[in-house]
Amino acid sequence: MSGGNAGEANERNGGNAGEGSGGYGGNGIEVEGLVREFKKGPRAVDGIDLRVKPGEIYGFLGPNGAGKSTTVHMLTTLLPPTAGTARVAGHDIIKEGPAVRDAIGVALQEAALDPFLTAHEHMRLQAGMHGIPKAEARRRGERLIERVGLSEAADRKVGGYSGGMKRRLDLALALVHEPRILFLDEPTTGLDVQSRTALWDEVGRLASSHGVTVFLTTQYLEEADALADRVGIIDDGRIVAEGTPDVLKAEIGRPTVEAAPAEADALERMGAVLERFGQRSPAPQGSAAVRLDAGTGELAEVVRALDAAKIRVANLEIHAPTLDDVFLAKTGKHLEGSADSAAPPTGELEALPA
Ligand SMILES: Nc1ncnc2c1ncn2[C@@H]1O[C@H](COP(=O)(O)OP(=O)(O)O)[C@@H](O)[C@H]1O
Ligand SMILES: [Mg+2]
Repeated sequence: MSGGNAGEANERNGGNAGEGSGGYGGNGIEVEGLVREFKKGPRAVDGIDLRVKPGEIYGFLGPNGAGKSTTVHMLTTLLPPTAGTARVAGHDIIKEGPAVRDAIGVALQEAALDPFLTAHEHMRLQAGMHGIPKAEARRRGERLIERVGLSEAADRKVGGYSGGMKRRLDLALALVHEPRILFLDEPTTGLDVQSRTALWDEVGRLASSHGVTVFLTTQYLEEADALADRVGIIDDGRIVAEGTPDVLKAEIGRPTVEAAPAEADALERMGAVLERFGQRSPAPQGSAAVRLDAGTGELAEVVRALDAAKIRVANLEIHAPTLDDVFLAKTGKHLEGSADSAAPPTGELEALPA
């Protein structure tokens, strides 16, 4: 990474956080009662409220059809809301469209790239659209293309790029006017693990080193977990849970403790002891498991109780809850592998050659 220059150019972005009228002015996002109904379709977004702080990475997590893209389209002024309001970078998305568009960078789910143009040519067009003078455009373009690892390919036509390369170019294009807020709609769906990790790194760096606020949608809970400071879980157009990944998991999904006795015939007694601490849950052969009522704090007591019952323990594991447990608790469904899921869950995807 050739960080130096990029850092200077973006420094102004971090400084003004929290200034302006509302606390979330500057680089934040405030959404109130936002609704979008389609004429011949569902109420795709059904009254959502959310706030994203300046410099925060907000993960908008939900299955296919939940309303993520529709929300992004409204917040980026590409689609008018049916009802409700939102301020992005302190500007009203309905009344101050141009000011909103100046402040934001957008990489949509379907990257609109021309297969017959090279990365350099895309960059030049994008800079031209933002009225960036030629010399400055060239410098920024080079820097961004290098930052997303496309220097070698920059004079090749985009038609020959892999999915990951296209997403990285799209990200670079979204950054050319040095936006204070970045919208990324499913930036890693369909990508191989390597491209995904590279993109996570870049997004994390933009937020931490340059103070860019990031609104990112995803259907992958690992992505929300790894990247987002705060997560909003959306299902059927409504936000069903919101918070930091840790708090959400702690609130809903209690950890499971799974234990195996050293002597097989002690399994039943072990199960009975564990049941004092929570509800039984499925466990592999030769083990017993419960979902701890009082969370991880109780683990020491579990061990003491097993000891007091003179049960020798061969193995004891604690399984942390995931954001899928949160989704399940709120909606009664699993997040991944939903019936009409267009993209397979990460596991399957990773098995494919890049
Ligand atoms: N232009 C449209 N016309 C009618 N229905 C739409 C349109 N765009 C999206 N929808 C519907 O709105 C719902 C939310 O879609 P979308 O916001 O794309 O979800 P997500 O991005 O979370 O997968 C879906 O049921 C989808 O079919
Ligand atoms: Mg979408």
